[in-house]
Amino acid sequence: MIKMMNGQMNRRSVLRTIMFTTVCAGACGIGPGRLFVSRVLAGETAFFQMGFDDFPQLKQSYGSVRLRVPGIPSSKNFIVVTRMPGNQFYAVSALCTHRGVAVNPFKKGMGLFCPAHRSQFEPNGKRVEGPARSSLNSFRTVYSGADAVGIEFPDLGYSVATELVEAGSGGYVKLEFETLTGMEYSVQVRDTLNDVVSVPVKFALTPNGAFNRTSIAGTGGTMQLYIEPSKDAGFVTIMRE
Ligand code: FES
Repeated sequence: MIKMMNGQMNRRSVLRTIMFTTVCAGACGIGPGRLFVSRVLAGETAFFQMGFDDFPQLKQSYGSVRLRVPGIPSSKNFIVVTRMPGNQFYAVSALCTHRGVAVNPFKKGMGLFCPAHRSQFEPNGKRVEGPARSSLNSFRTVYSGADAVGIEFPDLGYSVATELVEAGSGGYVKLEFETLTGMEYSVQVRDTLNDVVSVPVKFALTPNGAFNRTSIAGTGGTMQLYIEPSKDAGFVTIMRE
């Protein structure tokens, strides 16, 4: 997008923002320290796509996984996703409505069980018994019909859609995007979406290359850059000017 500012043409624009995070050591069954990368889009509803290769518990009925969803505010991001027979998927807040302790993933005969004071909930969040008086908050799910389920988080002001952006075992994130000749591209990293930053981060042009570039000219073709996040989570924006 080209914006007019003070009568001057400001050609600097955001090409793309992605969110990265190191998710879920332990509880969700994917390897500790694994980098997840998602694309941030303008919009009101965040959509988090869970591929079954990353969450194999969801390949079968009664499979259940507890995780923190990257890019979602911490008040909403701790969820339990459960698959029930007939391709029914449920996503609910993991926080017990009694005193906020995390419930366990679904187990037959136990439901979603809170170990603190033994409240129990159905996979869809409905309270069954225990000191908790109300049901768990639930989120809409969208089954792909094959190998993934999406979870919707409404009213966030932005959306996050998982996108295939490679995260290397060495901890780098690969950014791939189309470029225009005559334009310069740089990358910025922020802790939250609202942070204002103007300092470009250094990137490499190959996975094993030196992280010493701060901008690069577009070629008219596909560009691949690699950055090394210094924190566990944050937002990466590709700038074009
Ligand atoms: S916090 Fe869950 S039952 Fe008390």
